[in-house]
Amino acid sequence: MRETEQRALQAYREKFDGEPDLVASAPGRINLIGEHTDYNGGFVLPCAIDRRIAVAVGRGRRGGFETRPYETRLYSADFDEMRPVGERDGSWADYPRGVAWAMGEAGHEVGVFSAAFAGDVPLGSGLSSSAAIEAATALAVDGLFGLGIGRTDLAVLCQRAENDYVGVGTGIMDQYASLLCQAGAALLVDCRSLEAQSVPLDLAAAGLALVVCDTRVERGLADTGYNDRRATCERAAHTLGIEELRDATEGDLALLSGAELKRARHVVTENARVLEAVEALEDNDFNAFGRLMYASHASLRDDYEVSTQELDTFVQTAEEQGAKGARLTGAGFGGCAIALVPEDNTAALTKACERTFAEQELEKPAFYEFIPATGAELAT
Ligand code: GLA
Repeated sequence: MRETEQRALQAYREKFDGEPDLVASAPGRINLIGEHTDYNGGFVLPCAIDRRIAVAVGRGRRGGFETRPYETRLYSADFDEMRPVGERDGSWADYPRGVAWAMGEAGHEVGVFSAAFAGDVPLGSGLSSSAAIEAATALAVDGLFGLGIGRTDLAVLCQRAENDYVGVGTGIMDQYASLLCQAGAALLVDCRSLEAQSVPLDLAAAGLALVVCDTRVERGLADTGYNDRRATCERAAHTLGIEELRDATEGDLALLSGAELKRARHVVTENARVLEAVEALEDNDFNAFGRLMYASHASLRDDYEVSTQELDTFVQTAEEQGAKGARLTGAGFGGCAIALVPEDNTAALTKACERTFAEQELEKPAFYEFIPATGAELAT
């Protein structure tokens, strides 16, 4: 068992006074390329990271409940907090609550259960801790009650939880990545058909590392321009008389102006970049892959306007330090950026970044190195 899974198990034993029926865990993600394309019916290429949220679950009523012993209880070891399944309250518990709710809405019989969570996905950094807790809950509850829901449908239920219960209008990418990624591979998702395909990504064999820079600028998706960007894309599609920007061509862009033009241009060019990036990976051409990452960042900065000084500074510094490619990852507005760098250059890159961030009086960033990890699974 992984350390997070053991902590969840231990927390369950302490708080619910018994053995859980099963333990599951699910990872956070980074997105290699394909940003703000998922809710436009386009393509994304995320990979799971080796940071996870684990949950130990058991059926029905057990000891340790002072009141209302027939109610589902959720415990977080990281926050040392017990919460009933009950009301939405703006806390971490809304994610598992939302998943149980979405499963019920879809007609699945979710009984009373106890769940203890423990994780090590950095929170609020754009590494999808929310998708990780949703995916872990979904897989665990599915197993606990023998619901037999497939992974793709679990991902859709998790997205429903996030959209309609938590109230954040995200696309399907993060939940898909958390549930369907495989170790040593990225996942190409067609967000319209929901078909997904693993794309091998052996960075070590290529002598490369994926450096993640957490700018520590908090991004609350609900408070940011995320919903605004989404609405502009819908308007642009409407102007073009198409259902989703996925269907727009470069030629169509001439019919748009202002913000609609800029947002749509990003989406059209980004979708093309994802498909080119997959070809580059299949050819082991990391130079081409890296160029597409830089182009993606420029488009997110200039056309989609979701970058920040911190993210731009990291990408520029990475380029100066010889990174093959770099870009912001996730929604933007803060959060994380990634760089693909020769293994021997990682220390020089993080040092140079620390220096530049300090010179610009930006908050000291945190750095991680990830290898593409495995998606959600039941612990044995
Ligand atoms: C967030 C959302 C995703 C996706 C990205 C931007 O991570 O959760 O669905 O839209 O932003 O690519």
